[in-house]
Amino acid sequence: MKGLEVQAMNFHPNSADGYMDHLGALEGEHAVVAAEDMRNEQGVLLVRKGTPINASLAARLAGHHLEKPVHELVQVGRTLNNNSLYEEFGVFLVHYEDFYQVHAKTGFDNVLRHFCFVRSFPHGLMQRLTVMRARLPRVFERSLFSAWLGGLIAEELHLPAPLIYDTFVAGLFHDVGLVHLPYELVEKRSGYSDTEWAMMQTHVAGSTRLMAECGRFTGEAIKAVAEHHERCDGTGFPQGKSESQLGIVGQIVGLADILFQLRVEQYAGTDKTLADTLPYLRVNAKTYFFPTFQATFHLFQRAGLRSAGANQDNYGELRHDVVTHSDSMQRLFSALLRLAESLGEHTEAKTADALRTLVERVIHTLRASGLGSEELNQWLHSLGGESDAETCQELFELDAILFESLWLVRRVIRHGHDLLQHGPKDVPAEFSRQLGALLDQLDKLAGACWQSYNKDQAEQAEDPLIAALGPDEARRAAG
Ligand SMILES: [Fe+2]
Repeated sequence: MKGLEVQAMNFHPNSADGYMDHLGALEGEHAVVAAEDMRNEQGVLLVRKGTPINASLAARLAGHHLEKPVHELVQVGRTLNNNSLYEEFGVFLVHYEDFYQVHAKTGFDNVLRHFCFVRSFPHGLMQRLTVMRARLPRVFERSLFSAWLGGLIAEELHLPAPLIYDTFVAGLFHDVGLVHLPYELVEKRSGYSDTEWAMMQTHVAGSTRLMAECGRFTGEAIKAVAEHHERCDGTGFPQGKSESQLGIVGQIVGLADILFQLRVEQYAGTDKTLADTLPYLRVNAKTYFFPTFQATFHLFQRAGLRSAGANQDNYGELRHDVVTHSDSMQRLFSALLRLAESLGEHTEAKTADALRTLVERVIHTLRASGLGSEELNQWLHSLGGESDAETCQELFELDAILFESLWLVRRVIRHGHDLLQHGPKDVPAEFSRQLGALLDQLDKLAGACWQSYNKDQAEQAEDPLIAALGPDEARRAAG
């Protein structure tokens, strides 16, 4: 892993990195052959034209720096073209009933057809998408989804036509950098070391470079790829940019990426649809720019999507759970206010600015949702044993918002601990101790709240933000 690790950190399209391993693993309809003599940068012949690239040859080439970009030196059978890409979208959208409903209701097929057929896509990127489809199908589906939903959100926002196209291509190619990383690393779901997590983050630079080097895309599309893991609250990566530095296209792609995680990964095996992502959207209304949230909300509404909904038979259990979760949230809310107060008393500590902003945002979000309020608790405690469909649905939606809000609090805890771990120089020792104690208290309360959720649900659920950040972040949040 060590050699590949160094390559990943210094991504170069001419390097025989994880992409060469993927090529060597392809067979059948996607069989790979050398399109011309392959030489290293000193001109030494490594592989003759026409030689099949199999796993052992790929392993022998590992680490070599070739005289040309790898995609120019190989021929991959049945590489995606305009026609087959459009067909892939069709198969994907039909597979998920709710996606197809949105597609049909919005009449987006005309736009999709136009995007797929009117312009051609760079060969190097289409070759990588082909490899991704065969080797990393989950990432491929996410790319299709991000292009499709990203385009729809951009259209709903009435962005100018060129920006809608930029959103589409940024969504389609935002993760191509992942095909250059080791397969085991991208497929790994937990237990990432800090180094491995740092490697995962390099896919952003890889995708951005590949988009820029093909010379076919606008600065907006390239910037969007570079920013698809950045967040308006400053909690993203790789640069931790703030809201004023970000463009809307990158945030649309970032949101689409997360909604895929939620809908396809987290809801797997349930009746939940895209409409069930609304609680996530509500508590993260400002994470990707507020207009993006509004447009997504309207889009789902316009398409007539229905959520899985509450099961009235479980009313008693649901009422009990929501009361428990709401009581816990009230305690968490008070602890957050104490943290905000402490941060407000030490504004001279500039390294704590991002945490201060995050805490304020979370408090604002909880307040706007009415969570932690005395009124809400009074209403909950006044509910009787008899259920009606409306109350049941309200409780169901409230519980989903409480669950997503708990993840917001965990984000605060994680960033607070990160800040203290890096030993900020401008934070006085006394304030640092105070901050540590407040975070520990918050951590303890959140842990108790987490426990109060159904164990299975808690274990399966993964913060969509953290899921998109990577399993390492999930590990950190859990530990
Ligand atoms: Fe990504």
